[in-house]
Amino acid sequence: MEKFAVDTNGFYGEFGGAYIPEILYDNVETLKNSYLNIINDPSFQKEYNDLLRDYAGRPSPLYLANRLSQKYGCKIYLKREDLNHTGSHKINNALGQILIARRMGKTRILAETGAGQHGVATATVCALMNMECIVYMGATDVARQKLNVQKMEMLGATVVPVTSGNMTLKDATNEAIRDWCSHPSDTYYVIGSTIGPHPYPDMVARLQSVISEEIRKQLLEKEGRETPDYLIACVGGGSNAAGTIYHFIDEPQTKIVLAEAAGKGIDSGESAATIHLGRLGIIHGCKTLLMQSEDGQIEEPYSISAGLDYPGIGPMHAHLAQIGRSEVLAVTDDEAMEAAFELTILEGIIPAIESAHALGALNKKQFNADDVVVLCLSGRGDKDMETYINYRNR
Ligand SMILES: Cc1ncc(COP(=O)(O)O)c(C=O)c1O
Repeated sequence: MEKFAVDTNGFYGEFGGAYIPEILYDNVETLKNSYLNIINDPSFQKEYNDLLRDYAGRPSPLYLANRLSQKYGCKIYLKREDLNHTGSHKINNALGQILIARRMGKTRILAETGAGQHGVATATVCALMNMECIVYMGATDVARQKLNVQKMEMLGATVVPVTSGNMTLKDATNEAIRDWCSHPSDTYYVIGSTIGPHPYPDMVARLQSVISEEIRKQLLEKEGRETPDYLIACVGGGSNAAGTIYHFIDEPQTKIVLAEAAGKGIDSGESAATIHLGRLGIIHGCKTLLMQSEDGQIEEPYSISAGLDYPGIGPMHAHLAQIGRSEVLAVTDDEAMEAAFELTILEGIIPAIESAHALGALNKKQFNADDVVVLCLSGRGDKDMETYINYRNR
């Protein structure tokens, strides 16, 4: 995986690194020096894998979606991360990081959340491990993902609404980092995606890589081969996509198609299409593509999907797109919503709006009849019912 792997300073090509305030240096350095040893330790692996199986419900099924396949003229498998405990792929990462935090002797847990799925996953594992949990969430997202706020509170977490900026994921992350700076000794920050300073992007990708590990085994059983022709996933910060592609990056016959949020259109001034529109910049400790004005001010992103509404992108994805290993498509709010209603009617599965962006990419590709496509259905749509109903009644 040489060409694609992170280097020892946390760079994927020109993207990545750790650009952090002085006060966090020790925390990030200690994590950097210990995360691989912890993750590779057999006792960690046993505890993590037992929890993934017995608590999160893994392996998640690989489901051949017959009616969807007919519609797009190929064979489409859905990787059912929506069926995990707490309703998305976020639990894979939260379980791994809480075990890492415990091994590092931390007692206070922070998280940021957009759609609330990472917040719920973190609040869940904190309840499980009897640890204090504080979740920062933009006030816009608190309003549009109410069910998840109620869940976090029932799980014992403190949800702090953030009212700076446009009150979404970027602003929640700013506040979480601010809190971390004020409590560096006892606090561990569970970042929810492949973003942030090194080692977070690599650590989160590794914890999510169980998705592609399972896809290989399941495809072998169902198709007699381990590699699909296409992998499709949505990208917010990039964690479900990283997990979906991790064990296929070195297999050039598998094409990688990623969907970012075009909001009202990439030229509308209201989008979160970071890979299409971003330029090199630094956000939340990491050098990556960033939506910014001429003079380098971060631009406020927009997407109907709270989980994709972020002006940066994980450095791994900035790199893979730059070198042409992945194709990144921009999917609008309307295209994602149509794709969500289509999946619901064809397959009886209501997807998260984030995952609906991956589904929206299907329409933009021409497939051959014998193409095997694996699409990561990153989450379920329960949290989005209000948005779906309002959209339909608009
Ligand atoms: C269901 C779901 N899918 C995808 C995402 C996007 O995050 P990532 O790109 O890290 O997978 C989110 C984020 O909240 C989510 O809740």
